[in-house]
Amino acid sequence: MCGIVGYVGKHAASSILVEGLKHLEYRGYDSSGIALAEGNGIEVIKKTGRVAVLAGLAQKHASKASMGISHTRWATHGGVTDENAHPHLSWDSKIALVHNGVIENYKALRTFLEGEGATFRSQTDSEVLANLIAYYYNLDETAQNGNRLVCAVRQSLIHVEGTYGIAVICADLPNEIVGARKGSPLCIGVGHGENLIASDVAAFVGRTQNVVYLDDGQIVHLSREDFSITTIAEETVSPVINQIDWKIEEAELGSYKHFMEKEIFEQPQALENAMRGRFSDDESTAKFGGLNLDAREWRQVDRIVFCGCGTAWHACLVAEYLIERFSRIPVEVEYASEFRYRNAPLDKNALFFVVSQSGETIDTLEALREAQRKGFRVLGITNGVGSTIARESDGGVYQHSGPEIGVASTKAFTSQLLISGMLGLYLGRMRDLSFGDGREMVKAFKSLPGLISQILDQADQIKAIAERYAEFQDFLFLGRQSMFPIALEGALKLKEISYIHAEGYPAAEMKHGPIALISEQCPSVVLSPHGDTLKKVMSNIEETRARKGRVIAITSAGKDFPDSAADDIIRIPTAHSCIMPILSTIPLQLLAYYIACKRGCDVDKPRNLAKSVTVE
Ligand code: BG6
Repeated sequence: MCGIVGYVGKHAASSILVEGLKHLEYRGYDSSGIALAEGNGIEVIKKTGRVAVLAGLAQKHASKASMGISHTRWATHGGVTDENAHPHLSWDSKIALVHNGVIENYKALRTFLEGEGATFRSQTDSEVLANLIAYYYNLDETAQNGNRLVCAVRQSLIHVEGTYGIAVICADLPNEIVGARKGSPLCIGVGHGENLIASDVAAFVGRTQNVVYLDDGQIVHLSREDFSITTIAEETVSPVINQIDWKIEEAELGSYKHFMEKEIFEQPQALENAMRGRFSDDESTAKFGGLNLDAREWRQVDRIVFCGCGTAWHACLVAEYLIERFSRIPVEVEYASEFRYRNAPLDKNALFFVVSQSGETIDTLEALREAQRKGFRVLGITNGVGSTIARESDGGVYQHSGPEIGVASTKAFTSQLLISGMLGLYLGRMRDLSFGDGREMVKAFKSLPGLISQILDQADQIKAIAERYAEFQDFLFLGRQSMFPIALEGALKLKEISYIHAEGYPAAEMKHGPIALISEQCPSVVLSPHGDTLKKVMSNIEETRARKGRVIAITSAGKDFPDSAADDIIRIPTAHSCIMPILSTIPLQLLAYYIACKRGCDVDKPRNLAKSVTVE
């Protein structure tokens, strides 16, 4: 998804905007641009490529302008070209706009505007909005009620179908920015003598900790001294200023080569944060402050439905195993993007969880709204404090993993698994899980940071194994029970950052098809934890090796898994089944990371991907 940043203040806007874009580049990195209010006009600098390219051009331009807007793009409509990069200027160069989202009826609007004499420079849907705002701005010379630019934006948005987060400036108004949102995230950074607008707090957390999150249908009017929010229907909104709970340093790379590497090694601390203050040793259970259901209401729940996308969907699958295992409440898992249109028959006492690192993924947000529209209570598990999913859900659990910048999710995934396991404990202790079993689980969760550090200490061995397999083009990932979704996640990590074809399967399912792929050219990564399926998994490994398939095994079975049982073995601690999915994930993250590094891939900004997808 695209990233938007706007600044109006007393300092030169150009470098502040470029710095903000750098912190949003994980949202999209096809091309970037900047528009600055200079003299009586608007100067636009835009180019395909990374923000670093724009930074060079902006530096050469050395503008003193103290107001501007900027954008980093993830293409939806129109190829990756300089013309299609944002900002887009209206045909009369009066209006400049940056947009995150999709204008679904842009063709019809374009035809209307061409009829009114407007011309177009790009193939994008967004440029249509710049021209539409200019059309209304020029139409309404007087702007009876309120600011002329705000009115022009409001009148334009009434005709727009689709999603948008926009920032707009006008050559006549060098100290004003107008923004609006519907479906795409937008927030205000409230400063002293300056104000900022952005898709995500990461753009301005270095300048202010004060943030106002805009809701759908809201329009904001910013100047350096002040800001005001109204709705499309012209109602005044009194803003709620929140505090950002992390600092810019947390979003810096430090001594690491990549954010993904940093976030893998931050997992002991991230999980410590996710469980802090959330256990009751007296009752040997977990406790959550934001679920907003009391024990009686939980007793009424006889089915839980989990929804998510990508890695979050894999976390939902693990939650199914853990919650059913420890609470005996039936759990269903839905792809959020499918749930909305599947019109599934649902139990009246079902309760929904939506899982989303960013809290902004539109498919998951719409699944939330669909379930609420049908009268179901929806709880969120998210790392996005103040995100749209957090604000629209009926309660939930914050992950407190800190900012996750690497596009391939790592620490957010393991903290979602932790919270799912703790929910299994919490709901189990409300039903048939004994005090003693609960105590063992609490102990196991608390031992996680230490156990993960032990696995991270093996990074060099895992790197050596990874580099031996870096040239293969096809991989199978196999696991049984709760290890099946972990196999799916292992395959996804490798696909996301190294572009190797990889598939995850339940280990036994391998015999019913994928075994055809097995050869010396297609190695398998097999999750082989201690426990009641170990023997079965070891025979699956035998079936693979019998067909010259090389096997990397990840095992916690100690001596029950001899060195001869696989070609390469990564040994992890033997622990309680409620944390084994987390421990088994760490080596898979490192394998994918080191293979991608060996292949020279851009690990943090893999091709075609974006950190959170805010268009359908
Ligand atoms: C994709 C990301 O765009 O969205 C994945 O590349 C992520 O890493 C998926 O798992 C879902 O995102 P979120 O923020 O809803 O968990």
